[in-house]
Amino acid sequence: MNDIYERLALSAMAARASAYSPYSGVTVGAALLCGSGKMYLGSNVENASFSLTECAERVAIFKAVSEGERDFTAIAIAGGKTGEEVSGAFPPCGACRQVLAEFCRPDLKVILATGEDFAVYELSELLPHGFDKELL
Ligand code: THU
Repeated sequence: MNDIYERLALSAMAARASAYSPYSGVTVGAALLCGSGKMYLGSNVENASFSLTECAERVAIFKAVSEGERDFTAIAIAGGKTGEEVSGAFPPCGACRQVLAEFCRPDLKVILATGEDFAVYELSELLPHGFDKELL
């Protein structure tokens, strides 16, 4: 498993290269692994109208879902200042956690790249008591 997580973390770091983030000065990459083995990459895409910015994680999951994917096993996230190496964890924002919870099981592995290494969490640890679609 560790090999897969390391590969995902490296892919998330590489995905930062495609970020469009002229306003925040932060570049973020995400690599989402499907049950099929296919990987979808995302990076943050900002807008002059700031609230239209899309996070890297949501770009990755929307790409995958819109291609018909529904089974996800892990997502790696890597972020840091533009032009700098990843030097610590860049945890997903609350909105991204809720979007992940819409499509992923509570045991989805969330891999936070820290540069040389990575940390592994489960989605249920990062979003306890999230809004539950079963309530609708
Ligand atoms: N960002 C992400 O890509 N993912 C997150 O989970 C948090 C924030 C991006 C959005 C924006 O381009 C920049 O980081 C600063 O908020």
